[in-house]
Amino acid sequence: MDIASKTLTLPLLKKMSSTTFLFFLLINIAMAAAAATTLHTGFYSEACPKAELIVRDVMKKAMIREPRNGASVMRLQFHDCFVNGCDASLLLDDTPTMLGEKLSLPNINSLRSYEVVDEAKEALEKACPGAVSCADIIIMAARDAVVLSGGPNWEVKLGREDSLTAKQEDADNIMPSPRANATFLVDLFSKFNLSVKDLVALSGSHSIGQGRCFSIVFRLYNQSGSGRPDPAIEPKFRAKLKKLCPIGGDGNVTGDLDATTDVFDNKYFKDLVNGRGFLNSDQTLFTYSKTRKYVRLFSVAQGEFFQAFVDGMIRMGDLQSGRPGEIRRNCRVVNKPASGQSDWDFRTREVVIRAIGKTEEENGPNVIVDDGLLVVKLISICVLLGWILRRVQRLWSFLGNFILKALETTYRN
Ligand code: HEM
Ligand SMILES: *[C@@H]1O[C@H](CO)[C@@H](O)[C@H](O)[C@H]1NC(C)=O
Ligand SMILES: *[C@@H]1O[C@H](CO)[C@@H](O)[C@H](O)[C@H]1NC(C)=O
Ligand SMILES: *[C@@H]1O[C@H](CO)[C@@H](O)[C@H](O)[C@H]1NC(C)=O
Ligand SMILES: *[C@@H]1O[C@H](CO)[C@@H](O)[C@H](O)[C@H]1NC(C)=O
Repeated sequence: MDIASKTLTLPLLKKMSSTTFLFFLLINIAMAAAAATTLHTGFYSEACPKAELIVRDVMKKAMIREPRNGASVMRLQFHDCFVNGCDASLLLDDTPTMLGEKLSLPNINSLRSYEVVDEAKEALEKACPGAVSCADIIIMAARDAVVLSGGPNWEVKLGREDSLTAKQEDADNIMPSPRANATFLVDLFSKFNLSVKDLVALSGSHSIGQGRCFSIVFRLYNQSGSGRPDPAIEPKFRAKLKKLCPIGGDGNVTGDLDATTDVFDNKYFKDLVNGRGFLNSDQTLFTYSKTRKYVRLFSVAQGEFFQAFVDGMIRMGDLQSGRPGEIRRNCRVVNKPASGQSDWDFRTREVVIRAIGKTEEENGPNVIVDDGLLVVKLISICVLLGWILRRVQRLWSFLGNFILKALETTYRN
């Protein structure tokens, strides 16, 4: 009977050995912690008080080098936040085992200025190693790009973590095409709890930057397969675009998204009213009645545009996946174990640090010892679970004995 109960209980319990169990427990705690992350302003006031100044400085230099860097970095916020939340997933380079977002259709040969984010990260790692996430760098830098182009200023909420992975098809499935119509865009933005007003205001980001001929040739020559150009394009503007983007020409040639491409202003909306939108997804906002009223409003009231844009950027910056994350050391790759450290040790350690909510740099290398209270809590949870496990084991062996006895009785009879 003893043997019988052992064969029943031991293999199962051995499989759920204490280390595995502890690991699952920690993962759960970390996920709960990640899901509960609340973003707030001034997040780095202790861990890295100069974080925002450092990013602003890098952006200033990058935009002096090339004004378009502002637009290109600002666009990163949109492409990051819409795909699994603002988690810097789009910054991960491909690896042999992971196809990231960079080569997805909406991003390839189009997103640029990744190296500006790298520069900011490098400067931040020097000033406060391991403290500031790449996801937060994107949010700060996007705001700075707007300010430095003459747009509104605002306080950004910070405290995001960087993803541990990325998936090319996620970007392919989510990011809208330049061909999209207003109905589709209203619907897409509503899936992210962004209103019609948010959509129109955020599209005003196209007040700065450029787009490729690749993104507009269909509307110049064959709108919706009609064999004709988009009738919403004003004729003189169409002639200009056709010259820039002839049939069979280089799809990588770029044109300005509005007439004052380095200045963040409401000229974009004035252009839309005059049929001079660059992308189909721009001009459609004036064709469709629900969005047209906001285009009209913003074209005559720049203050209204700025306020709605700031509100939209903050709402878009709030998108989070709730998945566990980390503070990447290099925005292009997930953190790796130090040499000699096993992968398991490394991940567990990261998970514990995340669960406790403090980085090594904030508390010194003995973070786990320093945070005595939380360690005590963790240990007591483990002890409690161990106790429950033992009760289950007893119940299990009791049931085993019971079944065995029943079998014995039946067999004897
Ligand atoms: C409403 C849906 C949107 C669509 C369909 C869209 C599409 C596009 C396309 C096709 C381009 C040109 C890319 C190329 O030709 O290579 C572009 C550029 C740009 N987009 Fe959007 N976009 C949208 C919304 C947004 C939002 C919400 C933001 C930011 C808040 C944004 C920021 C930018 C910027 C700044 C550029 C210029 C980038 C540069 O010069 O490098 N876009 N967008
Ligand atoms: C808008 O685009 C969607 C998806 O591409 C399409 O199904 C729909 O018919 C279009 N609506 C209009 C009014 O063109
Ligand atoms: C949108 O809001 C609803 C209700 O507040 C919420 O359940 C949902 O998770 C939100 N969706 C996103 C993508 O934030
Ligand atoms: C326009 O697009 C339609 C549908 O995609 C295609 O069948 C047609 O051949 C195109 N016409 C031209 C002139 O490219
Ligand atoms: C743009 O340039 C890239 C790299 O040089 C090339 O692979 C791509 O095919 C070009 N795209 C278009 C639309 O011409």
